[in-house]
Amino acid sequence: MSQLEKVLINVDGVNYQVDAGQNIIDACAQVNIEIPHFCYHPSLSIAGSCRLCLVVTGMPAIDRNTKEILHNSDGSMVIAWAPKPAIACGTKVCNNLYVITNNDLVKSCRAGALEFFLANHPLDCPICDCAGECKLQEYANAYGSGVSRYVEEKNVKPKLTEIANKIYLDNERCVLCSRCIRTCREVLKKDYLSFTSRGSRTLVCPDTTADIDSNYIMNIIDNCPVGALTSKDFRFKMRTWFLKTTNSISTESSAGVNTKVWSRENKIYRITPRQNNLINDNWMTDSGRMEYKKYDDSVKIKYARIDGSPCEPLYAIGRAGEILKLGSIAIVASARQTLEEQFLVAQLAKECSAKVFVPAHLGEDDGFLLSADRTPNMRGAFLTGLIKKEYPKTDLLDLKAKVLSGEVKSILSFGEDLLALGFDSKDLKNVNVIYCAVSENELSQLAKITLPVCGDFEKSGIYINRQWRAQKFDAVYEPKKNILTAVNLIFNLLKIVKGEDYVNPSNQEVVKMISQEMSIAFDKMNSSSLLIDSSKFADIKFPELKALHYDA
Ligand code: SF4
Ligand code: FES
Repeated sequence: MSQLEKVLINVDGVNYQVDAGQNIIDACAQVNIEIPHFCYHPSLSIAGSCRLCLVVTGMPAIDRNTKEILHNSDGSMVIAWAPKPAIACGTKVCNNLYVITNNDLVKSCRAGALEFFLANHPLDCPICDCAGECKLQEYANAYGSGVSRYVEEKNVKPKLTEIANKIYLDNERCVLCSRCIRTCREVLKKDYLSFTSRGSRTLVCPDTTADIDSNYIMNIIDNCPVGALTSKDFRFKMRTWFLKTTNSISTESSAGVNTKVWSRENKIYRITPRQNNLINDNWMTDSGRMEYKKYDDSVKIKYARIDGSPCEPLYAIGRAGEILKLGSIAIVASARQTLEEQFLVAQLAKECSAKVFVPAHLGEDDGFLLSADRTPNMRGAFLTGLIKKEYPKTDLLDLKAKVLSGEVKSILSFGEDLLALGFDSKDLKNVNVIYCAVSENELSQLAKITLPVCGDFEKSGIYINRQWRAQKFDAVYEPKKNILTAVNLIFNLLKIVKGEDYVNPSNQEVVKMISQEMSIAFDKMNSSSLLIDSSKFADIKFPELKALHYDA
């Protein structure tokens, strides 16, 4: 039965069409009915251990002789209710399944289960870092009995056990759902965690003999429904209800991992994965979570500069445009640029007959969500025509040869550090370098013109990942004064080179232009991804290995 097939179910007396093949928890969620659960997680195997998801189920009664459905005198079907409640996580929906989620039996099952969970749970919600996103707190409020009959001494369990130097485990708060254990076993493929001891003394125990060096261990924090696992990096920095979330895409590699960026007042506090079952399921790398630290405010370029002297950005762009008009230009575009930026760079290169170089940035492919291509948009560079033939090199030695021979007299670089790509500072002595970048470095100091542009979190755009899926992302916050988006900057250069004057189009308008030019409906894209026809690039040898949802 395909996932897209529908079945008719009845929940609490109302009929619904839901996707076939899913369990009762997900089917009910599809029609906005919550079934509380701890141990169930859509990307893990079913444990069926917490018993919080119990519901009453039934099917139409069948006459044993005629095999016909039995009906009451009023014409309604006779329902044969199961003698005991069933776990909604372990029961799949089927046609004519009847479910009761709100009668006295279900309510008492939930209240009873929660009473057990709370028996030994510390009452430290006010100081627990998970407050505001703790499922136990929410469920106790919504489905608990509201009183405690527990008069015995509470268990005292170990606190602040460190895992992989990134996580704190507080066993007192653990509800023994085993999600963290199953995440390690089923996703990380390592038994880093296990249960030890029995009954109310049971503990989650890290394997002390293993060196937990996984780049995915922090996924257990997201999967923990309570505050038993907390991130050392985020802990006690900010209450989650003060944070706004923005949909984003990880830029650390071409995997295109979907993320949520949590910020307040122009400051990012954490990055967590966003579920996308076509790309990253519910997972992301630990290194990707730390990407928000890559732009240190203290090293950001704050002003446009010409020969080291600060000036108005539009004046510096004007001077840059004049240099471009002189000819003998090379443009170093980047696979870290958005599709919109790359599209405009391609136009600019055409206008000033510039040679285009796009360096590759490679690393070790982990065969999961950190791919060998450490840029988010190399496919975009192919699609926009910035790269015409094979996969590019990891240096700019070809460009260096052109500079040394005098063929290239000016270089416009978009964030690519020439000094890290084969150039020496003395090679650039007689070249006009126009450097558009976020952060200061040696190149920004020696460039003729330095132009500050927005970082990844200050702009919106489209990246195309290793699967050729185009995905949109949003700006987390506004750029500071004097900092232009690269789209704006390139348009200003284009106007000068072409000798035209017009109001710069918005990012959306640029997306429309790309859609028209390429006949690809980027402008109709919603929050989901758009798979691009990549057949004309079939001969290109890309460096990524087979990985989650990706066939090399
Ligand atoms: S630490 Fe969290 S995820 Fe692991 S078993 Fe306990 S409650 Fe579940
Ligand atoms: S979610 Fe735990 S038993 Fe169903």
